[in-house]
Amino acid sequence: MNLQLLEQLTQTFGPSGYEDEIRAVIRPIVEPFADEIRVDPLGSLVVHRKGTGEGKKIALAAHMDEIGLMATYIEEKGYVRFTSIGGVRPVNCIGGRARFANGTTGVIHVERRDDATAMPELRHLYIDVGATSRADCPVAVGDPGQFVGPLVRQGQRLISKTMDDRIGCYVLIEVLRQLTDSPHDLYFVFSTQEEIGLAGARTTAFRIDPDIAISIDVTGTGDTPKALPMAVELGKGPAIKVKDSGMIAHPLVRDMLVAAAQKVGVPYQMEILVGGSTDAAAMQLVRSGVPSGCLSIPCRFVHSPSEMVDETDVEHAIALLLTALQTTL
Ligand code: CO
Ligand code: ZN
Repeated sequence: MNLQLLEQLTQTFGPSGYEDEIRAVIRPIVEPFADEIRVDPLGSLVVHRKGTGEGKKIALAAHMDEIGLMATYIEEKGYVRFTSIGGVRPVNCIGGRARFANGTTGVIHVERRDDATAMPELRHLYIDVGATSRADCPVAVGDPGQFVGPLVRQGQRLISKTMDDRIGCYVLIEVLRQLTDSPHDLYFVFSTQEEIGLAGARTTAFRIDPDIAISIDVTGTGDTPKALPMAVELGKGPAIKVKDSGMIAHPLVRDMLVAAAQKVGVPYQMEILVGGSTDAAAMQLVRSGVPSGCLSIPCRFVHSPSEMVDETDVEHAIALLLTALQTTL
């Protein structure tokens, strides 16, 4: 596991719509492995690896963007009010920190409320960036921010902000590095704006016009206290999507991933996710339709500043994908 790369990927700034910095990190890493590289109008980075001619045109997508926040109002005393970028739960914010593009960091906290047991809403939260007035506040209305959560390795577990979906970017980068040849024409997409409506993958898939599309993203697990019943656990292998709340994986893609797992001999799990979806849901609906599926990295505490994955699941996902892409369909 290349922890230095993972740290760089997870910590770099990139809320949805503001992916310039993370794209600038990924581009020089993947460029040596590209036959062709381009940035689409909405910012997705597309790496083309030409096939030997006998295969299909396959698009693989991992999203570069992260959930975050945006300043909506600066109080007279310099406190920053904010709204969410993507699926942000207030309970995951309180006591944490926000970092803005210019490096300004602040504490996210909650107003004193008469009923302290009631679940706060985002409008009850504010960020203290150390300002004393509106005039000296280093944050302006419209500034985007990310959550703060450093990378930690604890045994086999890896904890950081934005495993969703920089761990998917990590997998795609490693596959690009290790892939020798493929019968398939491959497009590795580092997509934008997934967290606010799958915009980058949707528009990029239209341009690629693939035969098959696969997203690499995180999925929830059923192995924490009182979790929803779900047959996915951390450390039991990458999860092959059957269904989520945005799509049913195409049996062709699902079975292709299962066959690859069996061929290479890595553990895998079948995923049915009841809340949430991925770029694959958008890619399957472009033009006349694209058979699509998803290879998921099991992840606890998704959309919190401390998302946890297991290193072995990541390594097995890379091995599975390498085999899948080298197999003729
Ligand atoms: Co997400
Ligand atoms: Zn994601």
